[in-house]
Amino acid sequence: MNLLVTGGAGFIGSHFVLRHCAQFPKDRLVVLDKLTYAADRHFLDPVKDQITFIEGDIADQTIVFNLLQEKKIDTIVDFAAETHVDNSISDPGPFLQTNVLGVQNLINACRARPQIRFLHISTDEVYGDVGEGGRPRTVGDPLVPSSPYAASKAAGDLLIIAAMRTYGIHAAITRCTNNYGPHQAAEKFIPTIIRSALADKPIPVYGNGRNKRDWLFVTDHCDAVEKILSTDWAFADAAIHSGHLFNISADDERENLAVVRAILEVLGKPESLISFVPDRPGHDWRYALDSSATRALGWAPKVPFEKGLEETVQWYRSHVRSSSST
Ligand SMILES: NC(=O)c1ccc[n+]([C@@H]2O[C@H](COP(=O)([O-])OP(=O)(O)OC[C@H]3O[C@@H](n4cnc5c(N)ncnc54)[C@H](O)[C@@H]3O)[C@@H](O)[C@H]2O)c1
Repeated sequence: MNLLVTGGAGFIGSHFVLRHCAQFPKDRLVVLDKLTYAADRHFLDPVKDQITFIEGDIADQTIVFNLLQEKKIDTIVDFAAETHVDNSISDPGPFLQTNVLGVQNLINACRARPQIRFLHISTDEVYGDVGEGGRPRTVGDPLVPSSPYAASKAAGDLLIIAAMRTYGIHAAITRCTNNYGPHQAAEKFIPTIIRSALADKPIPVYGNGRNKRDWLFVTDHCDAVEKILSTDWAFADAAIHSGHLFNISADDERENLAVVRAILEVLGKPESLISFVPDRPGHDWRYALDSSATRALGWAPKVPFEKGLEETVQWYRSHVRSSSST
């Protein structure tokens, strides 16, 4: 394959690139990344001789169109996004620019080169709050996003679905639950807890800490993306919902407070560091997904939460990244 990976210097994208280079050394891989605050180009150092790295914006028509042509790209895996919910609440603008207009630019490029397969990485947050006892969301469920971030991701998804029908582009969309692991930006939930605890600072926990998330280790997400990439989804089914949309979940829900306590235990730090802070506006209580279609492809998570958490904590111990939210 001649692969374009957007957002490949970010958290999930960098793991995908490292794993793909190891598993498919014959593929030619181009990484396009704007290098926002969430990126670190050095994540890709182990494979820098195997890939072409281009600093640029997915919303830049000239860069994207030229790159697809010059590098003879046949597959796009799109991780590029603005991703921090709190940032989207204070300023939705960059989220609309990348997550909506950037996605539309990739669609336009695929329309011009219809042989390209376009795998777009979306999120469980597009379904909105599932609530206590609510049934896991399936890919045909309505999108009821709660934050500007989730709304911008839902808009990107809908633009792609419309383009599949109107222009016949060959696309698929994945929607995954919360990821954790090395390389995640300092502002996110688990890195914030680890960094605060390591510095013996108060650990900010929204509301009463009882919100639930379904945590998937980042490499398990990457494996699911590879599995989906390896199937013939572009022609899988005439019905968009059954052939082109894939939920990915760990099916291992935990309350935020339980995650904080687990990290404190790994670090040997006291629970007195926990500091409840006013809840985020529009904070979803719970997400839950039905990922049976992805599991039917032969994928299942491999990394137990305790093992993944240990690895994550050890990584942050040795790579303290710049802070923005404690
Ligand atoms: N982290 C999670 O828990 C999670 C869960 C489900 C889905 N997702 C989705 O997975 C994708 C990757 O998430 P992440 O956590 O790795 O994000 P991240 O914020 O860590 O990384 C995003 C990357 O995209 C790059 N980028 C941003 N805007 C760009 C633009 N306009 N052009 C080119 N590159 C740009 C950034 O520089 C960065 O390298 C996102 O689409 C996100 O919605 C994330």
